Amino acid sequence: MADTPFPPELLRDVQKRRTFAIISHPDAGKTTLTEKLLLFGGAIQLAGTVKARKSARHATSDWMEVEKQRGISVTSSVMQFEYQGNTINLLDTPGHEDFSEDTYRVLTAVDAAVMVIDAAKGVEAQTIKLLDVCRLRNTPIITFVNKMDREVREPFELLSEIEEVLKIQCAPVSWPIGMGKAFRGVYHLLNDAVLRFTSGEEKRSDAEVIKDINNPLLDELFPMEIKQVRDDVELLNDASPPFELDEFLAGRQSPVFFGSGINNFGVQEILQALIDWAPPPQPRDAGKRLVEPAEAPFSGFVFKIQANMDPKHRDRIAFFRICSGRYSSGMKVKHVRAGRDMKLANALTFMANERVLKDDGVAGDIIGIHNHGQLQIGDTLTEGEILGFKGIPYFSPEMFRAARLRDPLKSKQLQKGLQELGEEGAIQVFEQEGGQMLLGAVGQLQFEVVAQRLKDEYKVDAIFESADIHTARWLTFPDDLTRRNFEYEQALRLGKDVDGNMVYLATSRYNLAVTMEKWPKVGFHATREHG
Ligand code: G4P
Repeated sequence: MADTPFPPELLRDVQKRRTFAIISHPDAGKTTLTEKLLLFGGAIQLAGTVKARKSARHATSDWMEVEKQRGISVTSSVMQFEYQGNTINLLDTPGHEDFSEDTYRVLTAVDAAVMVIDAAKGVEAQTIKLLDVCRLRNTPIITFVNKMDREVREPFELLSEIEEVLKIQCAPVSWPIGMGKAFRGVYHLLNDAVLRFTSGEEKRSDAEVIKDINNPLLDELFPMEIKQVRDDVELLNDASPPFELDEFLAGRQSPVFFGSGINNFGVQEILQALIDWAPPPQPRDAGKRLVEPAEAPFSGFVFKIQANMDPKHRDRIAFFRICSGRYSSGMKVKHVRAGRDMKLANALTFMANERVLKDDGVAGDIIGIHNHGQLQIGDTLTEGEILGFKGIPYFSPEMFRAARLRDPLKSKQLQKGLQELGEEGAIQVFEQEGGQMLLGAVGQLQFEVVAQRLKDEYKVDAIFESADIHTARWLTFPDDLTRRNFEYEQALRLGKDVDGNMVYLATSRYNLAVTMEKWPKVGFHATREHG
């Protein structure tokens, strides 16, 4: 396939795609930056639109909020807009860390990420986790150090923290002039120009630009700050690596921008970096070969399944990343896992400003496919070829509950409900010896969502009891004999996930360590790939 010339129109359209997500610890400013990017991209007219969605989305343990979130996040999951002739897909990730598994999967569908760091707080827990996930695929990262209008930490200190904790080289592209009340703007190292800061939420015009760091006008304007900046820049030129596109694309170096999202400052530079530097869709590993994005045959994979607005119909949307070719409404595709054909009609395509039904999409774009249970996370669709896209992870859950019924006659429904919700990725489900169903989650809120959905969608009233499980490990065996011996000895500690893979359910860290020591040839895995 690699030596056939790609259809020129498709190639042109694919190269104009930029598909990315914003990652950050809660409160660092992801929602604000999302909104400002949409504003600068011309996709929304008014600041406040995304914020309003967020407040409706701020998941608490109150069920109504969760319900609202499910509805709203279908429409705001993908925001597509045009900027300088490019088509940008911004994939939203759930704000609440209880849904972080969802975030991890969304990150498998992007080609780049913008990492927002709160300049007062530096690198925080959730950022570390999310960056680890990006690293699995060497996703290029653009860094935005936000909230410079506040009293924050020294920029050099922030950079070395990012480098040390996140193990990624920083290449500052802009450099702050002052901070807090004395924040004057940034010096753009590549353009040798100062961008002057003015506060204000609604303003859209570009910042005032003053060329040349030695321009005497800067001494007049910033008599208190400019010397420090010149010294800093000298130090940076000596000590800091210059930005290198190849290093960025390999995921080893991150260009760093300083700014203030709420004041619209630094946002334009992020958008420009996405256009100029972030990669268009890249070839993807589909098992037996790499798939090129501009190949004519359509292919892609499901990375997220979302219950739709109307829970009574159990209608779900499968979010599908196109990896090659072009989607057209009504096309026939092969559902590789199920081994059968299906028709892709009325898929949702996304626009940020309103829900316009576009009916095409190319590699890099996301489409939403109405799904009645036939599609699972990780499923590949093609135009006939047997492919399987790789890399969507399952993570070992951190909390466990045993599901028990109030009405024992409903056990079939419970089984069906949990199987389907497990396949959807709402929660992880393990079946133990004797048919006991065990649920595993990353966040407490996942249990509440599942309990409520079992009630609404499957008419099952289930009680979740605490389970004496510390963690789960997926197992691999060197040979059949070892497997049989292990199964015999550890029968009580074993379970199967929704895809029938065997897991070891450890009661404690100690228990896991002892078992691993006793069975050195058995592989114990904290993650596994879908499919
Ligand atoms: P998140 O999605 O990452 O959770 O963060 P979000 O954008 O909601 O921002 C978290 C808080 O930080 C918000 O304040 C927001 O206004 C503020 N913020 C974002 N960017 C900046 C910035 O550049 N400078 C300053 N000073 N603050 C910023 P809040 O009080 O929680 O919410 P709100 O009442 O302002 O909406």
